[in-house]
Amino acid sequence: MADIERSWLVKASRRKAIARVAGFMAASPLPAAMAQIDPRPMGEHRRALSLAEIQTAFDFEPLFFGNVPLPVYDYTAHGDGSEFTLRRNRQAYDWVDIIPARPAIPASQVDLSADLLGVKMKFPILVAPTAAMVPLNPDGEIGMFKAATAASNTPMILSINTSTPAAQVAPASPTGTLWGQFYPVENRANTQRAMDTYEKAGITGIVVTVDQQASYYQRTQQDRNLGGRARNLGGGARSGDAALTGAARYRLNGGRLWYTWQYMDDLRKMVKGPLVIKGILEPDDARLAIEHGADAIIVSNHGGRSMDYGPSTLEVLPEIVAAVNGRIPILFDSGIRRGSDIFKALALGANAVMLGRTTRWGLAAFGAAGAQRLIEILQQELIQTCAAAGCSKLSDINKTVVRMHFV
Ligand SMILES: Cc1cc2nc3c(=O)[nH]c(=O)nc-3n(C[C@H](O)[C@H](O)[C@H](O)COP(=O)(O)O)c2cc1C
Repeated sequence: MADIERSWLVKASRRKAIARVAGFMAASPLPAAMAQIDPRPMGEHRRALSLAEIQTAFDFEPLFFGNVPLPVYDYTAHGDGSEFTLRRNRQAYDWVDIIPARPAIPASQVDLSADLLGVKMKFPILVAPTAAMVPLNPDGEIGMFKAATAASNTPMILSINTSTPAAQVAPASPTGTLWGQFYPVENRANTQRAMDTYEKAGITGIVVTVDQQASYYQRTQQDRNLGGRARNLGGGARSGDAALTGAARYRLNGGRLWYTWQYMDDLRKMVKGPLVIKGILEPDDARLAIEHGADAIIVSNHGGRSMDYGPSTLEVLPEIVAAVNGRIPILFDSGIRRGSDIFKALALGANAVMLGRTTRWGLAAFGAAGAQRLIEILQQELIQTCAAAGCSKLSDINKTVVRMHFV
C-alpha cells in the first residue's frame, strides 16, 4: 500500500469525513423514503426516543431499524416485487375521508367492546400472525403474547413459523386468547399433525392462510441478496422447505403453491374451534369460504408481501362486505399504522382489524413493553377518532361517517 493511501486510511480527516456523511444521512429526507409514506421522526432527531416519548406507531420504526441486523429489518419491512401493493395499502387510507361530527363526543363515552367468535374484546383489534419474533427481541413470541394480553386482552394469532413453540407461548399468558396460523400443506397427515400440535398446546382457533401461493419476497431475497440468510431468521422448518429444486428454481415456494376448496372441507373436520381463512381479496372467494365452513375471513394481502400489483385491502373491502352480507365476521389487515386507519376499515365494514408490522416495530424497539405500548397507542388513537366522528359504539362506525375517493 502506498504511503498516501495508508495516511488516508488513518488520518483524522477521514474520520471527520465519515462523521459528516453520517450527519448528512441523519438529516436527509432519504430515510423517510423507507418509512412507507409517512414521515420518520428520526430524520429530525439525533438521539433515540425513550419509550415514554413515543407518540405514534411511526416513532418505533427507526428504533427497530437501529436495533436489529439489516437482514432482520429487511425481512419485516419489504414486500413483493416493485412494492406497489405495499405502498398502495398505505395510500388507500389517504383516499378515505373521515367526516367530523358537530359536536364531537367526549372520548370517555366511546365503548368499542365486541364479541368475536366467542372472544370478548374491548377493542376490535388483534395481533396478526408474523413469523420469527425472537430475532427482533429476545422477548419474542412470548413477550408479544404477554404484551397483547396486557393491552386490554388483545387476542394474538401465532404464526406457524414461530421461533418459539406454541406449547411454550400458550401458557405464558393464561388469561390471553391465542389462535394458531397455518399454511395449507397437501399431505393430510401432516395437516392433522399440525392441528394436533396446536390442540395439545390448548389452541383450538385456527387461521389458515391462503395467499402467498406463488411469490415469495422477491425483493428481500433477490434485490438485497438475502437468499439463504432470509430463510434462517429463526422461523420454523417450513420457511426454506422448497430448497433449490422443482418450483423453487422459479422462486415459487413449493410448500405454498396450492390449496383447493376440497382441502378446506378436509381441514374443517380437523379443526375443533373456529376456522378462519386469511388472504381473501375477492367477493367470490368470500362466498366460497363460507360454503366451505369458514367461521370468519380475513381480508388481507399479507401486507403487500404476497403478490405485487394486487389491490389494496381497503379498496376491495366494501365489495367483500356486500358479498358476505353479515353471515360471518370479516377481519381485515394490511397497511394499518394509525387509529384512523382502523376507523376507516371498520367504517367500510370490517368487524375487527389485525396489526402486522407495527407490532414487530414495537417489540424490536423495546421488547414486550414496546409491543404493549404500540397496541395501546393505536387503541387510544382509535378512541380519539371515534370521538371526533361522533361514534360512541361500533355500530355507529359505518359508511355514513366516511367518504371514499378510490380511483
Ligand atoms: C415479517 C412478516 C412475517 C409474516 N409472517 C406471516 C405468517 O407467518 N403467516 C401469515 O399468515 N401472515 C404473515 N404475515 C402477514 C401478516 O399476518 C399480516 O397479514 C400483514 O403483516 C399485515 O400487513 P401490515 O404489516 O402492513 O400490518 C407476515 C408479515 C410480516 C411483515
